[in-house]
Amino acid sequence: MMPSLASEVLVWHCIAERRRQQLRPVIVTGAAGFIGMHVCDRLLARGEQVVGIDALTPYYDPALKRARMAKLARHPNFKFCQIDVADFAAVTRVFDEAAADRVVHLAAQPGVRASIDDPMTSIRTNCDGFVTVLEAGRRHGLAHLVYASSSSVYGANRTLPYSTEQSVNHPVSLYAASKKANELMAHTFAHVHKLPVTGLRFFTVYGPWGRPDMAAWLFTRAILANEPIKIFNNGDMWRDFTYIDDIVEGVIRTLDRPATPNPAWNAEAPENSSSSAPYRLYNIGNNRSVQLLEFVDTLEKIIGKPAIRQLLPIQAGDVLETRADISELQRDVGFSPSTSLVDGLSRFVEWYRQYHRNNPPA
Ligand SMILES: NC(=O)c1ccc[n+]([C@@H]2O[C@H](COP(=O)([O-])OP(=O)(O)OC[C@H]3O[C@@H](n4cnc5c(N)ncnc54)[C@H](O)[C@@H]3O)[C@@H](O)[C@H]2O)c1
Repeated sequence: MMPSLASEVLVWHCIAERRRQQLRPVIVTGAAGFIGMHVCDRLLARGEQVVGIDALTPYYDPALKRARMAKLARHPNFKFCQIDVADFAAVTRVFDEAAADRVVHLAAQPGVRASIDDPMTSIRTNCDGFVTVLEAGRRHGLAHLVYASSSSVYGANRTLPYSTEQSVNHPVSLYAASKKANELMAHTFAHVHKLPVTGLRFFTVYGPWGRPDMAAWLFTRAILANEPIKIFNNGDMWRDFTYIDDIVEGVIRTLDRPATPNPAWNAEAPENSSSSAPYRLYNIGNNRSVQLLEFVDTLEKIIGKPAIRQLLPIQAGDVLETRADISELQRDVGFSPSTSLVDGLSRFVEWYRQYHRNNPPA
């Protein structure tokens, strides 16, 4: 008798599961963060062992970070280590114990404003922390290190869409400079130690379990509370808003394709996104710019309530518009973001309401 399609799928699933179980663990830094939690969740869902690192910093309410950890902790293949990513001894201990062969490095002090107000913390976490992970990673012979860079590296550039082939030598915040520094450090480790390393320049990520300092959360909170929302540059700002599930798909696909030297790389006309070393650099965005006013209109419709709009001038460190050229990530890993703004924001608002029903303010 021919096996049914369902039983064939089950057998295939068991084989894939067993193969996963033979893999060494993945370390995810910034695991209690917005993107980190979702990346861990997806890795666990496909049967990976995951070791999460996070310092649960107070940049925004650590209760949200603890709630994300509580969600991940339900999974038997998840282990959490509360350590500072810039503490070399602690990071080395976790790397020794985990015996991981892949790392997704997301821990950072995010936020343009934070880097202006508290430059020392930004540099300690984003630069010292990054070198710590690179050094621990090369000592442990990682098969692949994927790390978060940012669209903010494009700084004062005005040619859209932003392509990795543009020079990014004019940052407009220390945060951006720290991410650009990460890219340089990553190339150095790829060159000197042959550490396979891939950077992803994230473009404005939003979705459930998102960050309280970002537009989706700030605007939703204010609209629901009948408070004014601050719209900078009178709303004439454009962002390549990218839904979290699309981002996670891109991160995992990238992780599964360790960076290799590019044999076509030409030292006399060097392209930025690859190298003679095992180094790659990609944009990861939606490839569609949305005006802030359209973002607010969409939220109002979803919430069913008008916003009180407070129009303000542009803030220091902000860029006017972002839009990602994602053709390289499309070509190399088949990245293809598919979530519309209205679907993504609807899922965010639904999650936001439920989260606050379950976690009312004290
Ligand atoms: N969310 C976005 O739109 C966006 C855009 C561009 C780049 N990024 C980058 O993506 C990564 C993840 O961002 P996110 O939005 O999830 O931010 P997040 O703040 O939610 O997550 C970062 C996590 O890192 C942890 N952390 C901070 N300092 C630490 C330290 N010294 N040691 C250990 N852990 C520490 C924080 O506690 C936090 O949980 C960051 O590197 C960020 O710069 C994010």
